[in-house]
Amino acid sequence: MLGIQPARTGLSGSLRMPGDKSVSHRAFLINALARGEAKLSNVLDSEDVARSRELVRAIGVSVEKSGADWILRTPEVLREPLDVIDCGNSGTTIRLGCGVLAQVDGVSVLTGDASLRRRPMLRVVEPLRGVGAQIDGREHGRLPPLVVRGGAVHRTDVTLGIASAQVKSAVLLASRTCGVTVREPRRSRDHTERFLRAMGATLAEHDDGALSLEPGDWHAVDVRVPGDVSSAAFWMVAATLVPGSTLELHGVGLNPTRTGAIDALVAMGADIEVVPDEGDVEPQGTLVVRSAGLRGTRIGGELALRSLDELPVLAVAAAAAEGETVIADAAELRVKESDRIARVAAGLRAFGVEVEERPDGMVIAGGGLRAEEAPVIDAEGDHRLAMAFAVAGLASRAGVQLANADAVRTSYPTFFDDLDVVRT
Ligand code: S3P
Repeated sequence: MLGIQPARTGLSGSLRMPGDKSVSHRAFLINALARGEAKLSNVLDSEDVARSRELVRAIGVSVEKSGADWILRTPEVLREPLDVIDCGNSGTTIRLGCGVLAQVDGVSVLTGDASLRRRPMLRVVEPLRGVGAQIDGREHGRLPPLVVRGGAVHRTDVTLGIASAQVKSAVLLASRTCGVTVREPRRSRDHTERFLRAMGATLAEHDDGALSLEPGDWHAVDVRVPGDVSSAAFWMVAATLVPGSTLELHGVGLNPTRTGAIDALVAMGADIEVVPDEGDVEPQGTLVVRSAGLRGTRIGGELALRSLDELPVLAVAAAAAEGETVIADAAELRVKESDRIARVAAGLRAFGVEVEERPDGMVIAGGGLRAEEAPVIDAEGDHRLAMAFAVAGLASRAGVQLANADAVRTSYPTFFDDLDVVRT
C-alpha cells in the first residue's frame, strides 16, 4: 500500500517526460517490417514497450542496446517465432503485433496478462481476415490468445467500425506487400502514418479522410521519441490543482491528434503555456503549468478521442472544478486496461465526489475531493488509474492509500520518483 499525503505547498521544478509509449512501440514494430538499420533514442523504458521489443526479436530482428539508445537491424526474411509471444498488459503490442505477424510466413501465437485476455480483439481480427490473414483466437477470435498465420494477404478496402489507431495501424502494417484503403469514423492518432511516410511508403489521404497505402518496400528510420503527453497530463492536472504550483515539463510530444488534454484543461481555465521546439516528424515542446481554479466543461466528440487516455486524470480535474463536467462519446474507456468509466466513477465517489456513470462517459459534480479520511483505491492492472488517483490524493483533503501502485511500470516507471522531485 502506498500512502500519498495531500500537497501542503505548491509543486515546483522541471521534469523531462519519459518517451511516448505509442511512438516507442511503433519504433520497434514498424521498423521490423522495413529494411536496414535504425537508431532509436529516448525510447520509453517500460514494461509495455519491452513487450513490443521482444515481439520483434522473436521474429528475427536484432535489437541491441547502445548507451541509452537501441540499434535495430532487420533480417532479409522475418522468421516464424519459436514460442508463444507474451504481450503482457499491452494492447498496442498485441494489436499492432497481429498486423506485423500477418506479414510473416508461419504461425504465431499471442497472449497476455489477465487484463489483456479480457480485451476485445474482433475489432482487429475481422479487418485482418478481410486483408487475407488467417487469424483466430479464444471465442472465435473475440479474446486472446490469438493465432495468426501470415503471408497470404491481398489488397482490399477496409472500413472500421470504431476510430482506433491500434486497429488502423494493424491493417496498414498487414498490407505492406499488397496495399490497402482504410477508413475510420473519426481520425485517431496518426503516429503510424508519420512513420510510414518517413520510411518511404506511398500513403495518400483522400478528401473523405480515407488512407490509401501502395505496396512497396520501406526503409528503416532513426527515431527520436518525443516525451509522452499522456504522462505529462498527470503533472498538468497536479500543478493546476495544487495551489502555488509552477511546473515546467520538457520535451513533450505535441502531435495534434494527442493534445486533447491540453485543450480540455485550458477550456476549464487552466494556465498552460505551450512553447514549441524545433520541428521533427513528431512536434514537441515545453509546457509551463501554473495553478489555477477550474470550472466544469463538456468533453465529447473529437475532443474525447484526442484525450481518451487522459480522461481518468481529466475526471480528477473535473472533480476539483467548480460546476459540472460531462464526459461523453468515450465508451471505448470501458475496454481499456480496465473499465475506466466504472473504476474512475467508483474512485471519485470514494473521495466524496458525486458521479453519475453513463454508458459512454460520466457526469462529475465537481466541488472538491473532500473525503475526510484517505480512501483506499486499488490500481490493479491499470497504470493510468494508479497515476490519476495519486494526483487526486495530492489535491485532496486527506490523501489516498494506493494499492498496486506499481502498475505505473506499464507506461511511467519513474512516476513516483518524479513526484518526489516536484514535491521538495
Ligand atoms: C494507442 C491507441 C489508443 C490508446 C492506446 C494506445 C496506440 O487506442 O488508447 O493507449 O498506440 O495506437 P485505440 O486508438 O486503439 O483506442
